[in-house]
Amino acid sequence: MCGIFGCVLKEENAAPLIHSSLKRLEYRGYDSVGIATIADGKIYLKKDQGKIDDVHRALNLDDLPGNIGIGHTRWATHGAPLKVNAHPHSDCTGEIMVVHNGIIENFMELRSELQNLDHTFVSKTDTEVIPHLIEQTLKQNPQLSFVAAVQESLKRLEGSYALAAISTKEPDKIVCARNESPLVLGVNGSGVFCASDIPAFLPVTNKAVMINNGELVVLSPKGYEIRKIQDGSLVSREPETIEWTAEMAVKQGYPHFMIKEIHEQPETLRNTLRMQEHYLDLLTTFLDRASEVFLVACGTSYHACLAASYMFSKLAFLPTYPVYASEFIEQHGKSVNIDSTILAVSQSGETADTLAAVTCAQQRAATILGLTNVIGSTLTRISRVYIGTQAGPEIGVAATKTFTSQLSVLAQLALRLAKKRGKISQDEIDLLEQQLCQLPVTVDTIVRTQEEKVRQIAEKFKDREVFFFLGRGISTATAFEGRLKLMEIAYIPSIAFPAGESKHGPISLVKEGFPVVFACPRDDCHKTLIGNIMEMKARGAHVIAIIEEGDEDIKSLVDDYVEVPRGIASVLSPIPFVVPLQLLAYYTALGKGLDPDMPRNLAKSVTVK
Ligand code: AGP
Repeated sequence: MCGIFGCVLKEENAAPLIHSSLKRLEYRGYDSVGIATIADGKIYLKKDQGKIDDVHRALNLDDLPGNIGIGHTRWATHGAPLKVNAHPHSDCTGEIMVVHNGIIENFMELRSELQNLDHTFVSKTDTEVIPHLIEQTLKQNPQLSFVAAVQESLKRLEGSYALAAISTKEPDKIVCARNESPLVLGVNGSGVFCASDIPAFLPVTNKAVMINNGELVVLSPKGYEIRKIQDGSLVSREPETIEWTAEMAVKQGYPHFMIKEIHEQPETLRNTLRMQEHYLDLLTTFLDRASEVFLVACGTSYHACLAASYMFSKLAFLPTYPVYASEFIEQHGKSVNIDSTILAVSQSGETADTLAAVTCAQQRAATILGLTNVIGSTLTRISRVYIGTQAGPEIGVAATKTFTSQLSVLAQLALRLAKKRGKISQDEIDLLEQQLCQLPVTVDTIVRTQEEKVRQIAEKFKDREVFFFLGRGISTATAFEGRLKLMEIAYIPSIAFPAGESKHGPISLVKEGFPVVFACPRDDCHKTLIGNIMEMKARGAHVIAIIEEGDEDIKSLVDDYVEVPRGIASVLSPIPFVVPLQLLAYYTALGKGLDPDMPRNLAKSVTVK
């Protein structure tokens, strides 16, 4: 999730507007920034790693000639956040420049094909194949226009992209295109703009043109022209007026980042299905070889580890030890050794407790593997192998989309390990892979069909003093995460534990109307869980259950229920089943007049022990 911007201006220089527009897109990524403009048939480029303000102070991003240009602010997924990986990327001649947001899935094949044709690559990014592909297309078909060469090259790309390209071959044009990643145009009397998001150009115009998947746009002093990538056919589309304030725009019209990020999960889950095979295989090999595996993290990331411990044992017969990072040194600091493998999970990659645990293990020669959302973070630098969750920047303090992305990647690792170890049948593997691919749609359905219902339940219970969250098996992790969300943003004391533990103490708290939330996938624990629900009902509890669609057994027992689409395997169930709990916390906080994005006493990244 990066931010791209481009503009063709009638008079003024483009660079200052590109700079300020990228600043308005900085919530999409802030690892590096770059601008390229065209003047007198020459391309001018400034780019570097770091935040926009810092790079501007060093390079003065406003000082590039020309009224046509493109720019990019980066969220690293492929290649560390270094200058060499900053966009725009060019071809061998420097005559073609491209900025890109998305993931080119077949970049490795294209890269080696182009290298065999003597193209020289300088970065580790997937994006760099695009300008080289355009260059090669022009080399093989010199009669083609730049626009036509871009169109032909796009047909070779697999994956997601919103991109903008310029070339000295046609210096008065920007060619941009979209497949899945967002792209929108802005128009006014002084020029035309393309951007990843409306906030980029909102201060200069509220006239926007939405670009659909499979469309290419040519921006020029004449305006904009939309064409279908497949056949080049023209598409006419008028601008629409956007009634947003700039602040609203950054949240894309959502009142808070948290609810925006909950709604982004279909897209971010899709991104997790575009992982680099190479790194997934490497991580799988290290896990397969390990004699003991510790899953180390804090907070929400720890809950992902807890769920993963069920996935690894149930699918690959690999026992793993989920450990709170803040307890790791005390609990295992003396025994961890060269045969130990640590899979550290951290959204930010900067959590002090997790880094301390990892450093302790590393000093005892353990193998360190990392799963994080921030490429270039400290965890990526100390890990032997790491992989990114590709969820884009998460602004809300409460982790939501990064949790479901962590679970998706961990499930893919467990599946690969199962395949490698031949522990489950190919049919089972195919079914689970198919369900993983279905999850973006499943989560989209939950948000679209159940959000209002959850809001009503939250309204009913927002003044309660305490909540229970229960689950069995892997749903224990779902319950723990639901509890953490409600506590951290709605400030309601909440207790979570495996449902089987109720009668060993906690049930003594239950009295008439006591709210108890159950996560109830239709898995091997379903029958026993019904018993736990009845235990609670017998003491007068008010039971809220997250159930599979059409689960009449539980529907008839509970007071409130929220349904998720049926047929999701137990080992994948925390992904869809946690979404209603994220919404419950959000709407409870809202109902109490609290700010879900900035909960008291908390920080997005806890860099102190
Ligand atoms: C979760 O909503 C919280 N923000 C917090 O518990 C968080 O998960 C924890 O601090 C770990 O952060 P990390 O994933 O960045 O390491």
